[in-house]
Amino acid sequence: MEIKTVGICGFGQMGTGIAEVSAKAGVEIIAYEPDQKFLDKGLARINKSLARAVEKGKMDETAKTATLENITGVTDVNALVDCDLVIEAIVENLEPKIELYEKLDGIVKKEAIFASNTSSLSITQMAAATKRPEQFCGLHFFNPVPVMRLVEVIKTISTSEAAFEAAKAFGEKVGKVVVSCKDTPGFIVNRLLVPYLLDAIRALEAGVATREDIDNGMKLGCGHPMGPLELTDFIGLDTIYYIGEIMYAEFKHGHYANPPLLKSMVLAGKLGRKAGEGFYDYSK
Ligand code: 3HC
Repeated sequence: MEIKTVGICGFGQMGTGIAEVSAKAGVEIIAYEPDQKFLDKGLARINKSLARAVEKGKMDETAKTATLENITGVTDVNALVDCDLVIEAIVENLEPKIELYEKLDGIVKKEAIFASNTSSLSITQMAAATKRPEQFCGLHFFNPVPVMRLVEVIKTISTSEAAFEAAKAFGEKVGKVVVSCKDTPGFIVNRLLVPYLLDAIRALEAGVATREDIDNGMKLGCGHPMGPLELTDFIGLDTIYYIGEIMYAEFKHGHYANPPLLKSMVLAGKLGRKAGEGFYDYSK
């Protein structure tokens, strides 16, 4: 099945990023966000990102206009009825995701594929809440979506080969390099990335080095664009904490155990860039 129209549920950082790259590739996007305020905020974020691309000479005004014309924002979930693919990128919590999929299952045409952008929750459990588990997979994008070249396409034991191939083709169509993975907490990237970030926090907690030296060590010693503490601030300390909890619950391995420093910072609201403070101060 060729994917021409895509519904996006949740118009935060990930949803808007996915909408932007897809619309730029000529896919018609219907972005669903129940609150008009969040919808407007998401559209403004895409506008700003495209304006930046024009400014940098990566895109011309005509392409910007065409991209924006491919995106329709809606506050009524029923508008997703004719989508070929629906990608969910709402809050990282199983309960609201399952509630949304149950609703979508009764609305969206039977042949459509459902995909979750979850970073660590069970795709199989979400698929089981619908009557179309064979048309259900994971499509995990990376932040910032317009820049990061990867998408993980996740196949459960129920996903059909046809749905999996269509999802992979969609990932390629929107300009990403596709890697395939089975449904397991953290998939490929977070399975490796999260223990590394948690270890960096443990090193800071143990007084091994300063935050700057830990970050410079990995940036200059290993060529990473950001050090692990900077990257944790960028992703969000609450997000990393949450993924750590899910992975520890599954694997029961100390690699995935959240260090007390991370827990204290999350409880204190020092969530990283989005909060103005994390391992570093962003208030200025
Ligand atoms: N949207 C569009 N373009 C953006 C952007 C955004 N939000 N942020 C940066 N860019 C572009 C800039 O326009 C610039 O393009 P150019 O080189 O063509 O001029 C380029 O990216 C570099 O940006 P900057 O010069 O502003 O800043 P940096 O050089 O510091 O790069 C960064 C910023 C791209 C974020 C870089 O630091 C980086 O790659 N960091 C690592 C990010 C990462 O690891 N992400 C994955 C997180 S894990 C995840 O998402 C999974 C989840 O489940 C937890």
